[in-house]
Amino acid sequence: MKKAHLLWTLLAVCLFVPNLLWAKNYVISTAKTSLVLRTEPGKRVDFVYYGSRIDRVNDIYDTRSAVNWNAYPVFGTNCRAEHALAVTHANGDLSLELETVKVESYKDEKDGGNVTEFQLRDKVFPFYVKLFYKTYEDSDVIKTWTEYSHKEKSDVVLRKFASAYIPMLANDYWLSYLAGQQNSESDLYEEPINRGRKMLGDHDGTRNAFKTHASFMVSQGRPQENSGNVFGGTLAWSGNYDISFVRDYSHGRLEITAGMNPEMSHYYLKPNEVFTTPEFIFTYSTEGKSGVSRQFHRWARNHQIIDGTKTRDILLNSWEGVRFKVNQEGMDKMIRGISELGGELFVMDDGWFGDKYPRNDGTSSLGDWVLCREKLPNGIDALINSCEERGIKFGIWIEPEMVNSKSELYEKHPDWVVRQPDREPTPGRGGSQLLLDMCNPKVQDFVFKVVDDLLQKHPRIHYIKWDANFSANNVGSYYLPKDRQSHFYIEYHRSLQKVLERIRAKYPKVIIQLCASGGGRLNYGLLPYFHENWTSDNTDALQRLQIQWSVSMFYPSNVIAAHVSRSPSKGANNPSSLKFRFDVAMTGRLGLELRPETFSESEKLFAKRAIETYKGIRDIIQLGDIYRILSPFDKENLYSTQLFATPKKDRAVFFAFCPYYRRNQPTPALKMAGLDPNRNYRIRELNPLNPQKPASINGKVVSGRFLMEQGVVLQWEKGDRQSAVLELTAE
Ligand code: GLA
Repeated sequence: MKKAHLLWTLLAVCLFVPNLLWAKNYVISTAKTSLVLRTEPGKRVDFVYYGSRIDRVNDIYDTRSAVNWNAYPVFGTNCRAEHALAVTHANGDLSLELETVKVESYKDEKDGGNVTEFQLRDKVFPFYVKLFYKTYEDSDVIKTWTEYSHKEKSDVVLRKFASAYIPMLANDYWLSYLAGQQNSESDLYEEPINRGRKMLGDHDGTRNAFKTHASFMVSQGRPQENSGNVFGGTLAWSGNYDISFVRDYSHGRLEITAGMNPEMSHYYLKPNEVFTTPEFIFTYSTEGKSGVSRQFHRWARNHQIIDGTKTRDILLNSWEGVRFKVNQEGMDKMIRGISELGGELFVMDDGWFGDKYPRNDGTSSLGDWVLCREKLPNGIDALINSCEERGIKFGIWIEPEMVNSKSELYEKHPDWVVRQPDREPTPGRGGSQLLLDMCNPKVQDFVFKVVDDLLQKHPRIHYIKWDANFSANNVGSYYLPKDRQSHFYIEYHRSLQKVLERIRAKYPKVIIQLCASGGGRLNYGLLPYFHENWTSDNTDALQRLQIQWSVSMFYPSNVIAAHVSRSPSKGANNPSSLKFRFDVAMTGRLGLELRPETFSESEKLFAKRAIETYKGIRDIIQLGDIYRILSPFDKENLYSTQLFATPKKDRAVFFAFCPYYRRNQPTPALKMAGLDPNRNYRIRELNPLNPQKPASINGKVVSGRFLMEQGVVLQWEKGDRQSAVLELTAE
């Protein structure tokens, strides 16, 4: 009896603990995925497998699914692979060849992550590399990053320093990525990855999410929302970056390399200095792109976004309502307006500051973060009082990394700006906006003090909108030594992080919104410090439907600030009903960006009801699981649909949008996704135009299976930009 027991135990150990059986394999698993790397002392690290979770390494051996390729190729001795790292050694030699010294696994006490650390060294030079892989018990993502150090006689120049290298073996790959510019951020592009090289990247210097985002998905076969095998990756770095996709000619292998953009950023690494790359976070799902999104969202809420598991307030921002024309009366009207509608927070945007030079437009005053007494004679506290009297909180806009040449700050510290000493700088907005040199510790102190002073003087400020409206146009630092100017791009963002760390250490609770001419800075490198992101200055509801859709591929709704603005919105000629505008904004963190006093009585009533409704479903939208179904980018779709559900699937909200009404088109049944097929759901129409006459489906009880297999047929009026929202509650 005892013998049999022992045998069973042995068998179980052999089957389920591959590390014991295959000492050279390192299986890094999450609940649903596994990464297998293989190495031994004196050998390179090989990337063997990444995909659905495996419990026995044998499952993937001797099949074509095993990639068996270098996990971190370096320049010098095997140049067939893309290289993740390239250096010039102290003696001028360009080559590297890495071998494993040691592998360690441990728990990161700070965040509870499980880390596997591969310690490597060059076979010839005292140059050391560490590859890190971190997982969390409650998430299906893997984080990877790299560290370099050396003990050579003098500096080693880092010329390429990727955070990650991911090889894949298969043929039919499709890339999904986001690209755009201010007001048209995050257009979704999907294309087959053909042979050759495809690059995503940005070298704006400060705002790296305009040209392309540092986030992407790679699908096997044409990308689908709710089926198919999809890899998702995102680089947590707010500076310039490069992500390359190379289809290798001889092997059909896809090589993905992601890291800081090394262009004009070669880095002189001192002996014993440690250079750490940003983190690259990746995940894999067999449930399509929405599956990848849900895995990113869950990880991000739990580990990467400040207060990520909390819902956000409903706010009114003053920008589109009054722009620079801030004054006491206007602010008071807005405060009254949003509080009467049931909102929770008022944010005073640009235009409130400047003493010697009042801020009336974009030409002056950035840097002078003192109240403009002419405009607001009673001061900030009077505004806060007026908010509090009406039961709402107060927030304020700043752009602390910037300065106008027409400002007191610039007059005092012309050498604090980013510029080349021998050239006139090319300014940005207003013909006079310049970037402050965050590499300079004095500037870091100043930026910290902008926030510190505001919050010291007015501790009741609840929310800050942190903007950044200029690129690093004139790269040159008075602070960095002449022979270290190439460190600027990296140092700028490291310094920004340092300042944000200081701010968060002192003010962990204040809500801070990330904004950069709209969504120009949306990146996971900054979200540990920011609660949410201003998605775009484009608030036209139809265009927002697309922008928010693509942002939701990587970011959860509690960071997607979505505001109802006037109709037609600025820069657009197409009017949208208030219902359509609300319904679109309700897929994100709902807010308003207009003057509520311009509402008619019926609009006021609608807005008030919609805000009340949103409060009842906010947890599902902001913290639930997303299932995108019909894409607003797909021209073949007459409708665009998405559903948010609680993880238990007991409550859900279904959004259906009809962007363009087509006469005499049959109305298709719109299928849902993400429900429990075995439960029945009671349906309630939200935001009906006429509450006395809700949609005919209102009040019906329908099984999840039916809703997902057959769908619902909704009635549409004649006209563009219509929408319907259904709340589903399991019986
Ligand atoms: C940027 C932001 C806007 C607004 C203005 C103020 O463009 O994206 O939301 O704050 O600055 O100048």
